[in-house]
Amino acid sequence: QAPEAVSPTGSPTGAPATARAQSGQYLTTAQGLRLGDTDHSLKAGSRGPILLQDHHLREKITHFDHERIPERVVHARGAGAHGVFRSYGTAANITRAGFLAKDVETPVFVRFSTVLGSRGSADTVRDTRGFSTKFYTDEGTYDLVGNNIPVFFIQDGIKFPDIIHAGKPHPDREIPQAQSAHDTFWDFVSLHTEAQAHTMWNMSDRGIPRSYRTMEGFGVHTFRFINAEGKTTLVKFHWKPKQGVHSLVWEEAQIINGMDPDFHRRDLADAIEAGAYPEWELGVQTFPDTENQMFEGIDLLDPTKFVPEELAPVQPIGVMTLNANPTNYFAETEQVAFHPGHLVPGIDVTNDPLLQVRLFSYLDTQISRLGGPNFAQIPINRPQAPVNDMLRDGMHQQAVHGGAAPYRPNSLDGGCPFLAGQDVGAFIDVPEELAASIKERKNPASFDDHFSQVRLFFRSLSPVERDHVIQAYTFELGKCYEKSIRERQLAALANVDAELCAAVAKGLGLPAPEATEQVPDSDPSPALSQVGKTWPVA
Ligand code: HEM
Repeated sequence: QAPEAVSPTGSPTGAPATARAQSGQYLTTAQGLRLGDTDHSLKAGSRGPILLQDHHLREKITHFDHERIPERVVHARGAGAHGVFRSYGTAANITRAGFLAKDVETPVFVRFSTVLGSRGSADTVRDTRGFSTKFYTDEGTYDLVGNNIPVFFIQDGIKFPDIIHAGKPHPDREIPQAQSAHDTFWDFVSLHTEAQAHTMWNMSDRGIPRSYRTMEGFGVHTFRFINAEGKTTLVKFHWKPKQGVHSLVWEEAQIINGMDPDFHRRDLADAIEAGAYPEWELGVQTFPDTENQMFEGIDLLDPTKFVPEELAPVQPIGVMTLNANPTNYFAETEQVAFHPGHLVPGIDVTNDPLLQVRLFSYLDTQISRLGGPNFAQIPINRPQAPVNDMLRDGMHQQAVHGGAAPYRPNSLDGGCPFLAGQDVGAFIDVPEELAASIKERKNPASFDDHFSQVRLFFRSLSPVERDHVIQAYTFELGKCYEKSIRERQLAALANVDAELCAAVAKGLGLPAPEATEQVPDSDPSPALSQVGKTWPVA
């Protein structure tokens, strides 16, 4: 029987590709040779030894020996689902992206993840969650590779290996930081106070979501929309779960980790199997694309800052429904390769120095994780737009390229007629004037404020939520062996909020230090008091 055709990955209903797997009535070798016995190796007599000539045994064992691939260097633990995104058309005036025009339906694949744990780690640890979406659009694949927290630890991607090394297990014992020795993590975030904002969100209930289905998602960075007239608008992406935003409490999270480490993975798969398809609205906050890229005093290129929704409301632009579970975890959830540089016409990046480094890192890591440069041909990564590139050969090449001249212009293969001009829907790099005339490594002064938004977030929480934050800091810092690290983190909290600092200090049995920066007694603007309350309409 002929092998089944390889379909493009993920049909609009979410059905995955079935690349020549398990077709036909007979068990065969990888070469299609029918097998009579796969349970006994070929031996010299019934008591052996086994003969080297047993080609089936060798194929079976050799393939098994190579079944594993490296796990992701971060976000190794995850769960995925297929679905569909339907756009409202409300962003059509600010972006020419075809999938954001009115009532366009686009197949998607989503992968949720934790950040620090390894592939087999538990789901309900206190951590940031990844929220990545692959939109298989007619104009090429667009990836929105976000998190469930709107800010990030660091302002410049050159420090990403450092924060991850500080958070990952210690090299000697390989005991995960999430549950035991905490010194390196707290050492890093107390020495790099730009990380205080993200850490506060981690210590809040957002760090222990009830379910992947009840998480918000954030693009974190500011991106740029370009409309049909070439006008640009800066945007921040938000996913709002129609299921509402819900968290666990710490004791629940701990017990669940022990009793059902696959809690989030199971919850997502069970809900989809039962037909309770989770939905998220996609929305954008929009900002004028001004020369300094600031909004209400907030530097839009600083990924440790968010823009309160009271200052820039989130405008819904479409809805995503997850309606099919993966058929094969490895083929789909493990091999999917997201990349913030997978863009479509109408959406571009900005100069956020964290985003700029990400643009390098994802392709680079995937070349080693997925065994060479051709992983875009793996079914889950295949674009649904026609592909006609000049990339050739390489490990695991699946395509049989024709023609003699993979370059352009050429005078042999019809001159390579496939280069699209601007008028036929090509991606355009938005021309941008660069301010810098000198090379330098320092941050702009607008990146210097590390505390005011941490305070804003903390003071926006309800009394119960604040208590949870205090308990989380006390518990986590209580795991630090080094007193000096606990004291340095308390000094950072003193610059956030005196009551918070005093409560954590009391829990740790240490004196509360004085603030070294000015801490206002109340929020600068009462309008911002609801800043953390981004609950969607259910
Ligand atoms: C995964 C690097 C910041 C969200 C990854 C991976 C790398 C990486 C190497 C593994 C990718 C793979 O093996 O396929 C970086 C670097 C960063 C950075 C260098 C900073 C410069 C961020 C930020 C976010 C984020 C700010 C959120 C906005 C994710 C997510 C995944 C991921 C969601 C998992 C993707 C998946 O499900 O396969 N990152 N990252 N990362 N990153 Fe980042």
